[in-house]
Amino acid sequence: MLSKITGFGLDGLIGYEATLETDINAGLPGMDIVGLVGQSVKESKERVKSAIKNSGFDFPIKKITVNIAPADIKKDSPHFDLPIAVGILAASGQVASGYADFIMLGELSLDGTVRRINGVMPMLISALQSGFKRFIIPHENMNEAAFIEGLEIYAVKNLTDVCGFLNGDIELKPIEFCSYHSALAKSSYNSDFSDVKGQLKAKRAIEIAVSGGHNILMIGPPGAGKTMLAKCIPGIMPSMTFDEAIEVTKIHSVAGILSLDDGIVTVRPFRSPHHTATTVALIGGGARSKPGEISLSHNGVLFLDEMPEYSRYTLETLRQPLEDKTVTVSRAMRTVEYPADITLVASMNPCPCGNFGSKTQRCSCSPFAIHKYLNKLSGPLLDRIDLHVEVDGVAFEEMYDGKKAEASSIIKNRVEETREIQRKRFENETVYTNSSMGNSQLSKYCRLDASSEKLLETAFKKLNFTARAVTRILKVARTVADMEKSADIKSDHIAEAIQYRSLDRKYRLV
Ligand SMILES: Nc1ncnc2c1ncn2[C@@H]1O[C@H](COP(=O)(O)OP(=O)(O)O)[C@@H](O)[C@H]1O
Ligand SMILES: [Mg+2]
Ligand SMILES: [Zn+2]
Repeated sequence: MLSKITGFGLDGLIGYEATLETDINAGLPGMDIVGLVGQSVKESKERVKSAIKNSGFDFPIKKITVNIAPADIKKDSPHFDLPIAVGILAASGQVASGYADFIMLGELSLDGTVRRINGVMPMLISALQSGFKRFIIPHENMNEAAFIEGLEIYAVKNLTDVCGFLNGDIELKPIEFCSYHSALAKSSYNSDFSDVKGQLKAKRAIEIAVSGGHNILMIGPPGAGKTMLAKCIPGIMPSMTFDEAIEVTKIHSVAGILSLDDGIVTVRPFRSPHHTATTVALIGGGARSKPGEISLSHNGVLFLDEMPEYSRYTLETLRQPLEDKTVTVSRAMRTVEYPADITLVASMNPCPCGNFGSKTQRCSCSPFAIHKYLNKLSGPLLDRIDLHVEVDGVAFEEMYDGKKAEASSIIKNRVEETREIQRKRFENETVYTNSSMGNSQLSKYCRLDASSEKLLETAFKKLNFTARAVTRILKVARTVADMEKSADIKSDHIAEAIQYRSLDRKYRLV
């Protein structure tokens, strides 16, 4: 007998309908799964066989052929276990058939338990877009599915329940829809600027960076608080819209790092890959074209701690995604695209010993050693960083003054106001923030009056700035002006923006 079940597959973040045909006939007993299947689907045989037997059904001792269409996309995920098992039970008459409008997803344990799978959110969204409405998914993935409206989803614990439900012997309730706003209201960030003493200069630079969507580099000795400051950054970014949250959730779901309890990512990601991380880990790829750190931090912060320690090659590969805000991962004959719209936050010591430029500590490095250290930074990547800020450790008195610093929520309110100004400015343009202005927008929105132009010219000549550095200064000055709700860029704004070019001014990279 032949049965037909509907499953779903994933190619990157895009899902596709998969039809599973199961044919059982007399012949040499055995089971074949065909249709360009990878190792995880091949291994499905053993799981399905044990799950069927251990759930009290008969595993047919006949020739079983399962064909998963379309055959031109490689399928390599254990979530086809459940439709394969149900297909066999339907073809052998042990469960009712005729529910092709149901999409079934789930991995099976040998004892018949339906186990959690990755990528539920992107599959449900793609399926909804293709017109599917009814689903059977693993119970553990329930929370993730609850945020998509208009679907009839049954969350199941084991194969016995699935069959009981399909046979009409047991009743299951569809899972209840959960609104994003209720989840957002419950969410909070772990790090708050109210816990960071002093550091007014660094906090100011960070607020400018977040307000204008700029990338930022913090330069300072070990223990100065760079990591602590960086961790607070997602908490002052504007709250994610539902669409932004869904984008992030899809990526985290595919990567298998989504919290089963939350089901949706409501806080902006903060990712801090170690400098020994491989290029694949950062950019994405590998046998299953997984998203890399740059996509896992989409809509949030990618923190490169001790940036000069990363390999030059690794840093270079980040350049294109930073520019395009998306990353293309290739594998045999197919390419997969993941979003990668991130705020890059980097940190570094000013020199190998860490004390160069410190007011209290002596640097023991030779000029040659400092030069060599700074030269490890990738020029083109550095070029994507609008602000450099020097961070020195806080003084003892500041650390124990008993005062509470400004809370992240207050800074966030100001950031949202400044973002709103930019939203209106760029309403009819393709950019959203000051940092992404191109040349035409720069000349349109960053006109200078005589005194600020004079200041910039003097700085350019005296401090030996490059034309590129000037572009960065203009963008940052535009953000500083926006923070003051000033329509014009004034010389104060330019003066402040010049301060955030430490690496050009002081260390001068060659
Ligand atoms: N401004 C500060 N306010 C409160 N605690 C601080 C501050 N600066 C540093 N610390 C403490 O010192 C620790 C080390 O700081 P860290 O951020 O790791 O420094 P860095 O990354 O610059 O080496 C922090 O975890 C925090 O406990
Ligand atoms: Mg650190
Ligand atoms: Zn030094």
